[in-house]
Amino acid sequence: MAPIFKTAFVALMVALSRAAPLEDSAAGGGDAALPDRCAGIEFDAITPDDKGQTFFFKGDHVWKGFEGDAQPSIQYFKELNGHVDAAFRMHNPENQGDHDHIYLFLDDKVFSYFEQTLEEGYPKDIQEDFPGVPTHLDAAVECPKGECVTDSVLFFKGQDVHVYDIATKTVKTKTWPHLPACTSVFRWLEHYYCFHGHNFTRFQPVTGEVTGSYPKDARRYFMRCPDFGHGGESTTLKCSDFKMDAITTDGTGRMYMFKGPNYMRLDTQRDGLHSFPIARSWKELTNGVDAVFSYKDRIYFIQGDQVYIYKAGAHFTLIEGYPKTLKEELNIEGQVDAAFVCPQQDTAHIIQGRKMLYIDLTATPRVVTLNVPLPFADVDAGFCSSDGIKLFKGSDYYHYDSPMLLAMSRIAPIPQKVTSAMVGCED
Ligand SMILES: *[C@@H]1O[C@H](CO)[C@@H](O)[C@H](O)[C@H]1NC(C)=O
Repeated sequence: MAPIFKTAFVALMVALSRAAPLEDSAAGGGDAALPDRCAGIEFDAITPDDKGQTFFFKGDHVWKGFEGDAQPSIQYFKELNGHVDAAFRMHNPENQGDHDHIYLFLDDKVFSYFEQTLEEGYPKDIQEDFPGVPTHLDAAVECPKGECVTDSVLFFKGQDVHVYDIATKTVKTKTWPHLPACTSVFRWLEHYYCFHGHNFTRFQPVTGEVTGSYPKDARRYFMRCPDFGHGGESTTLKCSDFKMDAITTDGTGRMYMFKGPNYMRLDTQRDGLHSFPIARSWKELTNGVDAVFSYKDRIYFIQGDQVYIYKAGAHFTLIEGYPKTLKEELNIEGQVDAAFVCPQQDTAHIIQGRKMLYIDLTATPRVVTLNVPLPFADVDAGFCSSDGIKLFKGSDYYHYDSPMLLAMSRIAPIPQKVTSAMVGCED
């Protein structure tokens, strides 16, 4: 995503969180001929595009992004003649031919757009592209593997959800009578939102489960409207005051940062950066985390003298028997500041004060195989990827090419400053 957009997005979240009333009514009222999303609109469809910009459809108009006025939809989708029933952005990394394309549905037809150009051969019959999926849909949303069991698309019609498996082109139908009838469904930063009226309800994409208090008013969360403050907690920090508690990246490229009661996914920043409560994804972690590392398909959280191990899948599940104490699980004691495992390796690097311990994760019971001094103390968090190691300390980070170079260094490298692009802080 272009840095300019990222900055604009962060600025927007700040603007939303400050609930600043607008000086004029441009975003809220304006041209009487245009529909006003702040008046409480029921959208026909919502989808992000390949740049992470979100389109909200209503009749023959669209809004692009979380603020601004309606525009005629033919400005972006010139073959569209009127409304759409449903829309989603294809997530299909196995097939670059349709990955990130926007699919728009109208009656029994489907349109595929990429970079605002209609793909050759479209519109097609829905049956031709998505066999088994009904016509006259209410809503659609992509659901990547890891969030759903396989790369899928969820198609909504009435109370039925047709789960379309992209690879096998097969459909399974579920009924979620507890969910309101969704007129549009939007996936944003791994979360799934069913829009109905001017409200939305967040749901779990595999089970349809709704947790938390819903519905909520979309105008407080997904658009900037005068008289509607942002309903979420403000968690944006100035980059110069930045400090995180823990960070990890797993084998599939997901990167999570933890701070206080919240976490943020950092690798999906094309669509924006936003904090969510940790307990929403890891429900037993109600007290924040001190350190975290990923090993194989598991995430290890350290909180005080407790270790929580979660298996990653469509959601994170705490492994039976956990939490255990640090002593039981890793054979160490004391406050842990940071932890990481490098890709394809079996050694956990545990940072405590001015020392770094090496723990062999293939040995039972665990043993500390090496204990090396570090050139500085008070590390907040660290991770290791194919680019090397980053250790974070307040708003600075230190980069090393490998654990060996870190272990051998006697003086700290020149610290670099965390940036808004890295961690979503405010410049
Ligand atoms: C929106 O949700 C509120 C509760 O939060 C409810 O009172 C209201 O009736 C809902 N409106 C619509 C149009 O769904």
